[in-house]
Amino acid sequence: MRHVVEDLERRRAEALAGGGEKRVAAQHAKGKLTARERIELLLDKGSFEEFDMYVEHRCVDFGMDRRKKIPGDGVVTGWGTVNGRAVFVFSKDFTVFGGSLSEAHAGKITKIQDMALKMRAPIVGLFDAGGARIQEGVAALGGYAEIFRRNVDASGVIPQISVIMGPCAGGDVYSPAMTDFIVMVRDTSYMFVTGPDVVKTVTNETVTAEELGGARVHTTKSSVADMAFENDVEALLQVRRLIDFLPSSNISGPPRWPSFDDVDRREPSLDTLVPDSANKPYDIRELIEKTVDERDFFEIQAVFAPNIVIGFGRIDGRAVGFVANQPMALAGVLDADASRKAARFVRFCDCFEIPIVTFVDVPGFLPGVAQEYGGLIKHGAKLLFAYSQCTTPLITVITRKAFGGAYDVMASKHIGADLNYAWPSAQIAVMGAKGAVEIIFRAEMGDKEKIAALTKSYEDRFLSPFVAAERGYIDEVIRPQETRARLARGLALLSAKKAERPWRKHDNIPL
Ligand code: HXC
Repeated sequence: MRHVVEDLERRRAEALAGGGEKRVAAQHAKGKLTARERIELLLDKGSFEEFDMYVEHRCVDFGMDRRKKIPGDGVVTGWGTVNGRAVFVFSKDFTVFGGSLSEAHAGKITKIQDMALKMRAPIVGLFDAGGARIQEGVAALGGYAEIFRRNVDASGVIPQISVIMGPCAGGDVYSPAMTDFIVMVRDTSYMFVTGPDVVKTVTNETVTAEELGGARVHTTKSSVADMAFENDVEALLQVRRLIDFLPSSNISGPPRWPSFDDVDRREPSLDTLVPDSANKPYDIRELIEKTVDERDFFEIQAVFAPNIVIGFGRIDGRAVGFVANQPMALAGVLDADASRKAARFVRFCDCFEIPIVTFVDVPGFLPGVAQEYGGLIKHGAKLLFAYSQCTTPLITVITRKAFGGAYDVMASKHIGADLNYAWPSAQIAVMGAKGAVEIIFRAEMGDKEKIAALTKSYEDRFLSPFVAAERGYIDEVIRPQETRARLARGLALLSAKKAERPWRKHDNIPL
């Protein structure tokens, strides 16, 4: 027995050493933590239970049988807890064969994916690797595909989060791309399908890894990543915060945490949030922050398409997804990027039964050749489709403009919202007064006085919440200061909501 215990300790120590002191030092010198250090930070202290520490590759090609086998084979896997809730995790170990994926390495990840799905618990992947283990060829490619298929099987059943903390290229990028959220670390992580050398060969473009796929690119241009943080520690702490907003699965319901914030809290300052001039911007984040518990708002994709704000907060301890037009950016207009960004978020919330609160101040869809050529019709339809298929509770508050098709799209009563409120400053119409009068009274445009009178009468009649309220499209016109209290009551009521869609194999969202 003593021999076995000694052997166990020796083998454990060998596995825990990873690629050895020199490679660990090199990892630290790059400002990166090791695979195990990252897990320690992600999970509750002492909660990590590791699996498959002794797994080794079985490759015999290119001298791999003679090369030292390293137990664990470049990925650390297991489960633990985040604030007491079970979470599965795999963490690529760059110090072992560059974290590259062998058949055995893939087997460790798929085992964790299967367990997470069986246990209906979230899974987090920490990426820092050189792609497919080159010596293994098709066995590695097959391993990737096994992981991809499981990503798809788990999609909409358990939350899947990917954190990119080093190189992530080739086969490694497509698994994160099929998960719910991608988090990157600034300066030390990058993602691309093919790296700068291949790009140079194929397209003759000269580009650095950072320029091709760094955090800045993916959070501002491509929108592949949802957020980026300064270093490993901050990224992992923020992932813990994100997990706290998410249900464990699509059947568990959103988590409810203790709140120390009065649900009936009034915010008199909101009564003056909307400026007197219809064209003056204001920060919609102020409304979100003053609405949620303890002002704790977790924004997603903050720098991409800033004309729409998305993210999580809590009201009375319950997780809520927020979608809000942002008058501070492009007057809050809906363009292709904003529509796509919001549509994916709405679908995420709906998968996991997270109620959605929508704050509307939208002058319409963005006109222009670039938008039309860029597929605005199809991207706008994504958001319309996403809201229309929601069965999760939807509450909408129109704070100011709700013009044209964008009124319909932004969780209107007509496409299925459960509770629709408007502030007294709401303007619900086909378009603004000036544009409307120019079209319907084109023949009178020479008569300035008449046009001014017609504009005023259009404003009086249509640029208010009451035409919509008279028809029942708005359930109630509420004082801005009572928004939080009304939302809290509404969300409590809607927690019992049951809605069903007709059977189909799956829908055909305009991708
Ligand atoms: C085997 C690999 C490896 C790989 C790195 N290593 N990538 N071993 N297969 N794919 C090993 C190195 O040999 C080295 O081993 C250690 O990891 C560290 O690598 P370095 O090159 O010294 O590190 P660095 O200079 O930091 O460069 C990191 C890197 C580079 C940029 C990731 O290693 C690299 O370009 N690797 C290859 C990337 C790639 O082309 N992968 C295949 C993608 S195709 P030692 O023993 O010296 O420490 C793909 C297809 C799948 O993934 C498609 C599925 C859909």
